[in-house]
Amino acid sequence: MTQQRNPRKRTYLMCPPEHFTVEYVINPWMDTSTPVDVELALKQWERLRETLVDLGHTVHVLPPRAGLPDMVFAANGGFVVDGTVYGARFKYPQRAAEAAAHREFYEAQGWTYVAPSEVNEGEGDFAYLPDAYGGTILAGYGFRTEPAAHAQAQDVLGRPAVSLRLVDPRFYHLDTALAALDDRTVTYFPGAFSPASQRVLRQLFPDAVLADEADALAFGLNLVGDGRHVVLNDEASGMAARVAAAGYVPVPVELSELKKGGGSVKCCVAELRH
Ligand code: ARG
Repeated sequence: MTQQRNPRKRTYLMCPPEHFTVEYVINPWMDTSTPVDVELALKQWERLRETLVDLGHTVHVLPPRAGLPDMVFAANGGFVVDGTVYGARFKYPQRAAEAAAHREFYEAQGWTYVAPSEVNEGEGDFAYLPDAYGGTILAGYGFRTEPAAHAQAQDVLGRPAVSLRLVDPRFYHLDTALAALDDRTVTYFPGAFSPASQRVLRQLFPDAVLADEADALAFGLNLVGDGRHVVLNDEASGMAARVAAAGYVPVPVELSELKKGGGSVKCCVAELRH
């Protein structure tokens, strides 16, 4: 018998890909010789935004800035738990100025914003499970975010941060390899993590929905879940079947253009947790 999966209303932040291009290479998915169709990217992004709104969620829109082609990947701009924002500090100079744009948004909206002293790429490398062990932060390192930022996030947010080492450059952010399906359940591709981190994940999350390399390569782990619905890249049909078998409702969306930047659904969506 599959479990009843209940949705919870969410607040999200997204940024339209008006200035999206692939003009530098900071992950293995990016190739500057591949042309990007900005109009199609905008259409696909808008469809994703509408999908989240139609599911009953609130979506705030961050104004995009010229010269920041990766700003569409709004998940990287901060990590919000219980009304406090642990700000981002990007690893690569090409994205550094995005942090200030996010900061301005949060401060204008009255969120408590804590500026980081350590390199971290927001929800790209941080996930939050409010009902796992009273509230647990999962934190990736190895490619972008520094482990020192995990400790800082724990200090700022007052929740234990569990450090997980990423070992496959194709899955350079935690959110390409692991996702929260609801407040206590994760799904992940074990091969993206070191053997020790796989051991940690098995211990903490014996009920996890396990994914495979094909799921991860189709950006199937880069999903947004509200507890019932799982919005994910339409190429990830295997992953859609897995979450359906676990009692969730897959909601596929087309995001082929943004994949050229090395991201999909989750990368485009930051969750603002009150
Ligand atoms: N081109 C961007 C980068 O490499 C993609 C970011 C994807 N975002 C994410 N949350 N995984 O920084």
